[in-house]
Amino acid sequence: MRFKGTTIVLTGASSGIGEQAAKQLAARGARLCLIARRETELARVRRDIKANGGQAWIYPTDLTDDTSIDATLARLLKEHGRLDALVNNAAHSIRRSILDTLDRPHDYERTMRLNYFGALRLTMGLIPRFLEQGNGHVVNVSTLSAQVPIPLFSAYLASKAALDSYSRSLNAELGHRGITASVVYFPMVRTPMSNRTRLYRHMKMMDVDAAAGWIVKALRDRPARVGSPLGTFGSLLMAAVPGPAVKYSQPIFRRMDKKLRDKLSKGK
Ligand SMILES: NC(=O)c1ccc[n+]([C@@H]2O[C@H](COP(=O)([O-])OP(=O)(O)OC[C@H]3O[C@@H](n4cnc5c(N)ncnc54)[C@H](OP(=O)(O)O)[C@@H]3O)[C@@H](O)[C@H]2O)c1
Repeated sequence: MRFKGTTIVLTGASSGIGEQAAKQLAARGARLCLIARRETELARVRRDIKANGGQAWIYPTDLTDDTSIDATLARLLKEHGRLDALVNNAAHSIRRSILDTLDRPHDYERTMRLNYFGALRLTMGLIPRFLEQGNGHVVNVSTLSAQVPIPLFSAYLASKAALDSYSRSLNAELGHRGITASVVYFPMVRTPMSNRTRLYRHMKMMDVDAAAGWIVKALRDRPARVGSPLGTFGSLLMAAVPGPAVKYSQPIFRRMDKKLRDKLSKGK
C-alpha cells in the first residue's frame, strides 16, 4: 500500500503503539481515523499529527459497547468516501494465573469483549465498504505469546488466538476479492500497558517507535504475519511438537520471572 491519500482506521490510538503508529502513518501521508475511549488523549494525538502537516479525525468510542461501535461505524462510513484499512490495535491484557482466575469468569469475558468481539464488530462493519472498493486490509495486533505460550495470560492469549483465527479465515474467504489481513505478533513493548506490571520494570523491551514500524510494514506489504524470528521458530515447534515445546519452555519462563523478581527487590 502507498500511504499518500489513503484513509486508515486505527483503534487504541490514544496511547502506546497505536499513538506512535498513527503518527508514523500520518507522516507518510495517510489520513487517520483515530479510535479510543479518551477524547482528550485522542484530541492530543490529532493536534500533534496536524502540527506536523498530517490529517486526522477522532472517534471517541468504547469498543466494549456495541451501540458505541455502531455509532462510530455509521460516522466513518458517512464521513469518508473511501476507507482503505483497519488496524485493530486496542486491547486489554490481564496477567493472572489460571488458579487465581477460577472464580473470575469475567476476566475471560472482558478480554474477549474488547480484544476479539470489539475488533470483530468493527471489521464486520467495514467489510461491505472494502468489498465495494474491491480492496481493504485489516491489521490485527497480537502478541509473541500467542506463538510461544507463556504462563499467566490465559484470558488475554485466548482472545488474541480468536483474532488470529478470524484473520486466517478472512484471507482464505475474501483474499481473492481484495480483502486481506495481517497479524502482528509483538514481543514486549515499553508502553503504558507493559508498565502496569511492576515486575516488568527491568525487562528489556522493544521500543514503541520500532513497534509502530511493524504496523506500518503490515499495512504497506500486507503479509499474513509480521513478527520476530523467535515467534516463527516457536510457531514451528508448536505445530510440530506442541507437548514438549510447552513442557520444556515453561521452566525458562519461571526462571525469567524469578530473575525479574530478584532485580526488582534489589532495585527497591
Ligand atoms: N505493550 C506490550 O508489551 C505488548 C506486547 C504484545 C502485544 N501488545 C498489543 O499491542 C496493542 C497495543 O498495546 P499498547 O501496549 O500500546 O497498550 P496501551 O498503551 O495500553 O494502549 C491500549 C489502547 O487501547 C485503548 N482501549 C482500551 N480499552 C478500550 C476500549 N474499551 N475501547 C476503545 N479503546 C480502548 C486505549 O485507549 P483508551 O484508554 O483511551 O480507551 C489505548 O489507546 C494491544 O493489542 C496489545 O495487546 C502489546
